Amino acid sequence: MSSPILQVNNVIKDFTVGGGFGKPENFRALQGISFDIHAGKTLALVGESGCGKSTCARLMTKVYPATEGEILFNGRNINEITSRKEILEYRGKVQMVFQDPFGSLNPTHTIEHHLTRPLKIHKQIKHASELPKRLAELLNMVELAPDTLKKFPHELSGGQRQRVNLARALAVGAQVILADEPTSMLDVSIRLGVLNLMQRMKKDLGIGFLYITHDLATAHYIAEETAVMYKGQIVEWGDTQSILSNPQHPYTKLLISAVPDPDLPFGKLVQSEPNYSNDADLIRQRCSTIQTETEQVGHNHFVKQWDSAA
Ligand SMILES: Nc1ncnc2c1ncn2[C@@H]1O[C@H](COP(=O)(O)OP(=O)(O)OP(=O)(O)O)[C@@H](O)[C@H]1O
Ligand SMILES: [Mg+2]
Repeated sequence: MSSPILQVNNVIKDFTVGGGFGKPENFRALQGISFDIHAGKTLALVGESGCGKSTCARLMTKVYPATEGEILFNGRNINEITSRKEILEYRGKVQMVFQDPFGSLNPTHTIEHHLTRPLKIHKQIKHASELPKRLAELLNMVELAPDTLKKFPHELSGGQRQRVNLARALAVGAQVILADEPTSMLDVSIRLGVLNLMQRMKKDLGIGFLYITHDLATAHYIAEETAVMYKGQIVEWGDTQSILSNPQHPYTKLLISAVPDPDLPFGKLVQSEPNYSNDADLIRQRCSTIQTETEQVGHNHFVKQWDSAA
């Protein structure tokens, strides 16, 4: 495989919580996270609410620094990116797309404005005369009609708005897109279209994606590799296909058992395994302990150990 664009190496993130009237306490949101993002590939980061998925993305976009560990962009530690100019450049190359497609668009501006501004700020066009052609290319790429430029965000559907957000990431020159639950607020019927678009951006433009989700079924659809996260740890990672057809970690099995679709590759598995959902509390308890030992299960399939005695 090619060398990764972004590498997250053993990252720990502590937050100080409380204060006010209480004593401030340290909360460790990430317990030593590692993963790589490659050009033209998608890594799905899957886990339940609060496990630390968005914290990973925020560290990767330099919202705040890691407490320990390092994040490398094309081999360079992102902590070394400090000048305003370099941070702007970096944020252009590593873009976030959020869950709420409306929240990140300004209701008072047209789509044309939303796409023109980043093209200018991030110097993606050399001359103003290139603008119409570049705008047309962007809309074409995300499959929006040319007249979308004159519209305002409220005149678009959720799926169309998410397409604008993806076009905007391209407009700033993104090489990596960190997509934080990008389809979870969309109707099931239009979800697939946005996922297909992300697939095409990956294949045709070589964009590397981090796809954050709690939904294993869409991870299966879009991601070559998956990392399953629980309470600040990645408990199982590797080829998506291998993880879904041969899950090892109790928490991965719990997640899989929560997907009722028998047509997915793990449909049979869910039927043959004991009903994990019934033992959810026990499984969560067993998986909470911080583990350092890793077992290799397949060519590209690894699993953290868990507390089998609890
Ligand atoms: N700035 C912060 N200060 C204190 N605690 C934080 C901060 N940001 C996140 N946390 C805590 O870190 C943990 C992980 O949060 P994070 O937002 O990364 O979860 P998530 O996996 O993205 O969840 P969701 O699926 O609900 O978006 C949570 O317990 C959260 O309360
Ligand atoms: Mg989140």
